[in-house]
Amino acid sequence: MLVSAKEMLDKALAGHYAVPQFNINNLEWTKSILLACEEVKSPVILGVSEGAGKYMCGFETVTAMVKAMDKSLGITVPVALHLDHGSYDGCYSCIKAGFTSIMFDGSHFAIEENIEKTKELVAAAHKAGLSIEAEVGAIGGEEDGVIGMGECADPEECKKIADLGVDFLAAGIGNIHGIYPENWKGLSFETLAEIKKAVGDKMPLVLHGGTGIPDDQIKKAISLGVAKINVNTELQLVFAKATREYIEAGEDKKGKGFDPRKLLKPGAEAIVEECKKKIALFGCGGKA
Ligand code: 13P
Repeated sequence: MLVSAKEMLDKALAGHYAVPQFNINNLEWTKSILLACEEVKSPVILGVSEGAGKYMCGFETVTAMVKAMDKSLGITVPVALHLDHGSYDGCYSCIKAGFTSIMFDGSHFAIEENIEKTKELVAAAHKAGLSIEAEVGAIGGEEDGVIGMGECADPEECKKIADLGVDFLAAGIGNIHGIYPENWKGLSFETLAEIKKAVGDKMPLVLHGGTGIPDDQIKKAISLGVAKINVNTELQLVFAKATREYIEAGEDKKGKGFDPRKLLKPGAEAIVEECKKKIALFGCGGKA
């Protein structure tokens, strides 16, 4: 059954581990992630960006696919279907389409407008039984055309947004979407500690840009109150690598190796393995 992300993240924060948000792009992605999480009994948040939602024929198609797959695969772990970096309109579309969680990314607005829109969406999401994530301080890198500067959030602004009743908060601490540049300075744990002090012990914090952050920094972030870590690019990279190796080995030319069920299999299996690695690192295996 699809659930809101609130309970799983409150539990993660109290238990000092993090729940993964794995972003989905299609049926294979969804299936691999669900099977991996079921195998190691981890709760999971399926992230859908607006671009990925459009690619999958709209949010209603996504909800129908995820709900049906959850049932037909016999998934028993808690699964939240979550809008990633949602616009104001996108949030309303996902509430209507049956998502169980949304993120409103108002980080590009002036703080007053971010507060005003977040407040309204908190009420709308909670009324419909969804959890809601908000963002302060843009995340760096590029995702679906949204380009951030990798800034560190202002703890005072974090408190203002947290006090609106959001269920979990994304706050920039030097993290970047996609592959980290060679000269990246690492996460700012100073900022993270200040944010935690400002928002209090009960607010699960979200770390975006989970791809490529060194393991020791991931663990330290979890110890400082991060309870949700988003991973997207890394699954794309392992899928592409496994698919390339299959084709470069000429496997698609042997027998019926061009059959999509065979062609996409190595990539799909690579996603399962990568998810299990992240779950072990985040400490959420067996927590479902
Ligand atoms: P990566 O693509 O860097 O893993 O970031 C994912 C993310 O933060 C989705 O919101």
